[in-house]
Amino acid sequence: MVTAHQPVMVDEIMRYLITSPDGIYVDGTVGTGGHSLEIGKRIAPKGELICLDIDRSSIGLARERLSSFGEKIKIVKESYVNLDTVLKRIGIDEVNGILLDLGVSSYQLESSGRGFSFLKDEPLDMRMDHDGNVSARELVNDSSMESLRGLLRDYAEERWAKRIARAIVKQRRTGPITSTRQLALLVESAIPAQYHPRKRHPATKTFQALRIAVNSELGNLAGFLEKAPELLVKGGRLAVISYHSLEDRVVKQAFQRWERGEVYPRKLPVVLETRPPLMKALRKRGLRPCQDEMDVNPRSRSAIMRVAERV
Ligand SMILES: C[S@@+](CC[C@H](N)C(=O)[O-])C[C@H]1O[C@@H](n2cnc3c(N)ncnc32)[C@H](O)[C@@H]1O
Repeated sequence: MVTAHQPVMVDEIMRYLITSPDGIYVDGTVGTGGHSLEIGKRIAPKGELICLDIDRSSIGLARERLSSFGEKIKIVKESYVNLDTVLKRIGIDEVNGILLDLGVSSYQLESSGRGFSFLKDEPLDMRMDHDGNVSARELVNDSSMESLRGLLRDYAEERWAKRIARAIVKQRRTGPITSTRQLALLVESAIPAQYHPRKRHPATKTFQALRIAVNSELGNLAGFLEKAPELLVKGGRLAVISYHSLEDRVVKQAFQRWERGEVYPRKLPVVLETRPPLMKALRKRGLRPCQDEMDVNPRSRSAIMRVAERV
């Protein structure tokens, strides 16, 4: 059975994102269309919504769920990092609001069969984009011990990165690691039992790191944030929901740079010039879901939303 994703922080998103009911909005991570359905209801019949995702099967489900909005909704299979080119192609210069709801959807975890979850035994793939190049299987079986270790450290802050990388390389000598269960058991046995986390599976961080690497999640987010302000009208809003501290840090730092008006040369941590602020954060701190939402949707517990406005 296909699991539709339960969208998080719907009321908060709608309150901050929709400033004009006949404006143009972007859902950069449409998934199975939960947030888009809500945006659609608030901007129909005059507003427009452009939806992006890189996962072909999620897009298929979103198309069905959003079909009642007709031509007011366009759904494109494309990465949000290329939002500027998508908008140009359809003749739009600026929009009133952009939403990114990062991470993985319940549909992908539970029904996609692509190995996002250690709770199921599936082929080790983890590509959100079916046409993407490198799968988790290739990363796990072909990377050097040093790069596996770096990946676990950089993308999940995994304390046991060295031991896990060593265990993977040792296991590979007897044959490739091909399934999620195989990997989950391997990680579990690589971490000393007394250090197994009490509330989550010991392989949680390894799976997170691999997913981030396979889908270039942090690079895409940083690339998008460089271009986002110029895609918004004055007063237009950007809302981003992150699910772990690495993602949230990238968003928070971009917001700080915009407020300070700092312009960096590509990829260098040196301030090139200072301009008037590009965007201002609407809240100093990230917003968390309310307790009621966390009780009914445990996945929302790690969500943190940041919103900024184009000035
Ligand atoms: C948490 S889900 C979004 C769920 C959605 N808000 C809903 O209500 O159904 C994250 C989605 O982002 C998509 N995604 C990940 N990286 C992307 C990228 N670079 N460009 C577009 N979509 C991306 C995933 O395929 C996934 O469907």
